[in-house]
Amino acid sequence: MRVMMEDESENIRAVWHENGKVRMIDQRLLPQEFRIIDLTDYLQVAECIKNMTVRGAPSIGAAAAYGMALAAEGGVDLDRAASVLKGTRPTAYDLFYAVDNMIISLERGDDPMEAASKYADRVIERCQLIGKYGATLIQEGAHIMTHCNAGALATVDVGTALAPIRTAWNAGKHIFVYVSETRPRLQGMKLTAWELYNEGIPHAIIVDGASGHFMRKGVDMILVGADRIASNGDFANKIGTFDKAVLANELGIPFYVCAPISTFDFSIPTGDHIVIEDRKEEEVTMIGNIRLAPGESAALNPSFDMTPAKYVTGFITEAGVLRPSEIGRVRRVKLQEAGEI
Ligand code: MRU
Repeated sequence: MRVMMEDESENIRAVWHENGKVRMIDQRLLPQEFRIIDLTDYLQVAECIKNMTVRGAPSIGAAAAYGMALAAEGGVDLDRAASVLKGTRPTAYDLFYAVDNMIISLERGDDPMEAASKYADRVIERCQLIGKYGATLIQEGAHIMTHCNAGALATVDVGTALAPIRTAWNAGKHIFVYVSETRPRLQGMKLTAWELYNEGIPHAIIVDGASGHFMRKGVDMILVGADRIASNGDFANKIGTFDKAVLANELGIPFYVCAPISTFDFSIPTGDHIVIEDRKEEEVTMIGNIRLAPGESAALNPSFDMTPAKYVTGFITEAGVLRPSEIGRVRRVKLQEAGEI
C-alpha cells in the first residue's frame, strides 16, 4: 500500500508479522495520524478487531489468523482462542473462515506464524485477481461510486472494490471516484479517500444522502465490497449499501460486488440468515467527545445491511466475474482449496 506519511511505504500492509510481533495500522486514527501498533497476545488482537483498530472483512480475517498464531505460540487452548476471536464481530464471514483455516493448519503441524502469513498473502493474491477481472469492466472516463472502505486497509493490501479501480488507473484509464462518506464511522471519507489521495486517483467525497443525486447525474458503475455473501447471492455490506443497490437498479447503473471466496458463506441459503452487527448509539449521537443529539434521543446503529441478489449485476471474485446464479463456481474453488474435491 502506498502511504504518503511513511518512509517505509513499500512494505506497509493493514496487518502483518515482523520480528515475533503482529503489527497493524491503527485505522481509527487515519487520516490525521499514521500509527503502527505491535501486538504479542491473541487477546490484544481480539480487542483490536472489536474496537475497529483493524476492520474490513478480509483484514479482520487476516488479523484473526495472526491471533490464532499468537495463541498457538503461547500454548493457549486453540478452541478457547477460536471462540474469543470469533466472538469479536458477528457479520464478516472472513473472520470465521480464517480461524477455521488456521485450526486446520495448526492441527496439521504447520508453523503458526508461517501459516498466518500465508493466509494473509493469499488474501492479497485474491485481491490482485479481483483487480484484474474487475478492471476489464471499467471503461475509459468512467465515473465510479463506492461505499465504505473496501481498499488496501480492509484487505491486508490492494483491496476488493478498490482493486479494479487501482488496476484501471495504473493501466492509464482516466477515472473518477465518488466516495460516500459512510456515516457513522466515516470509513469512506477517512480511509477510502486517504487511499485514493495517496495514489493520486481523482475522487470526491460526498455525503451518503447525495448518492442518488450523483447517480442521476452520471455514475457509470458502482463497486462495493461485502462482509458476507449467502448461497443465493444475497449479501451484507456496510449500512447504506442496500439503498445504493436499489437506486442503481432503478436508474440502470451496473452494481458490482467485489469479494474473495473467503467472504462467501455457503452454509446459509439466503441473506436473511446473516447476523447484522449492532454497534453503540454513541457512534451516531456523538462526534468525537461532543454529543450533538438531544439528551433524551435514542439512536439505532446497525453496522451493515443486507442487499438481495436480484440487485447485483455481478460478483467480481478471483474466480472471475459471476452472475448471482453462477456463484456455485466459487463453492467449487473453495472445496478444491480445502482438498475436498
Ligand atoms: O465495519 P467495517 O469497517 O469493518 O465494515 C467494512 C465494510 O463494510 C466493507 O465494505 C467490507 O468489509 C468489505 S472490505 C473488502
